[in-house]
Amino acid sequence: MGAPRLPGLDVAALCDPDDRTLADLSSFFVGSFWRDKAGGALSEQQASALMDFQLGEFKAFFFLSRESTTQRSLIRATEHNQTVGMTCVEAARVTVSGGGGRKEDRRSAVRPVLSNLVVAEGARRKGVAERLVGEAEVTAMSWGFDSCYLLVCADNAPAVSLYKKLGFAVAFEDDEAKTSEVEQDGTVKSVPAAVLVMRKSLK
Ligand SMILES: CC(C)(COP(=O)(O)OP(=O)(O)OC[C@H]1O[C@@H](n2cnc3c(N)ncnc32)[C@H](O)[C@@H]1OP(=O)(O)O)[C@@H](O)C(=O)NCCC(=O)NCCS
Repeated sequence: MGAPRLPGLDVAALCDPDDRTLADLSSFFVGSFWRDKAGGALSEQQASALMDFQLGEFKAFFFLSRESTTQRSLIRATEHNQTVGMTCVEAARVTVSGGGGRKEDRRSAVRPVLSNLVVAEGARRKGVAERLVGEAEVTAMSWGFDSCYLLVCADNAPAVSLYKKLGFAVAFEDDEAKTSEVEQDGTVKSVPAAVLVMRKSLK
C-alpha cells in the first residue's frame, strides 16, 4: 500500500496569475525545486538570488509575448491553502530533433510541453505529482492537443518512474543536452546532461 493521499488536496490551473501569486510560487519553487537541486539546503545568498531568478522566469513565462508559444498555464496543488506542488504547461513550437524516434515528432509543430514539476518534500509519494500532471494533460486536451511532451534528466529516477507510470514513453534521448545547476552565489548555470524527451498520447 502507498503512503496516505492528502484528503484536502486541491489542484487548479492558473491561466492569468497576478504578481503576488507568482511571487508566492517563486518562493515555493526556490524552497523545493532549487533546494533539492542544491542538495537539500540553500544559503541566504543563494535563496535570495534564486528568488530573483525564478520570479523573472515565471514572469517571462506568462507576460513575455513569444511568437512560438500560443498558450500557457501554471497548475498549482494546495492543501489547506498551502502550496504543495506545481507544474507549468505551454503550447510551443518545438521539434523533437535527433536521429531516432517517430518521424512525425521531428516535424516542427506546436506541441504542449510540461515543465517545472515539483512537489514539496513533505508531500511526496502521496499522489500530488500524479494529480498535477493529470491536470496539465486535461489543460492540453482543452487546447485541442492529443499528445504532450516533457524533458527530464535521464538520472532523475523518481521523475522518470513517475512519468512512465503515467504513460509517458521515451521519444528521444539527448546525450548532449543541458540542465541547470546552482552556483555557490546562487546564480544558475547550464551544465551538460543526458536528457530524455518523453511523449504521451492523450487519445
Ligand atoms: C518527481 C516528483 C515531482 C514526484 O512527486 P510526488 O508527488 O512524490 O509523486 P507521486 O506521489 O504522484 O508519485 C506517483 C508515482 O511516481 C513514482 N515515484 C514518485 N516518486 C518516486 C521515487 N522517489 N522513487 C521511485 N518512484 C517514484 C511512483 O511510481 C509513484 O507511485 P507510487 O507512490 O504509487 O509508487 C518529486 O519527487 C519532486 O518534486 N522531485 C524534485 C523535482 C523534480 O525532480 N521534478 C521533476 C523535473 S522533470
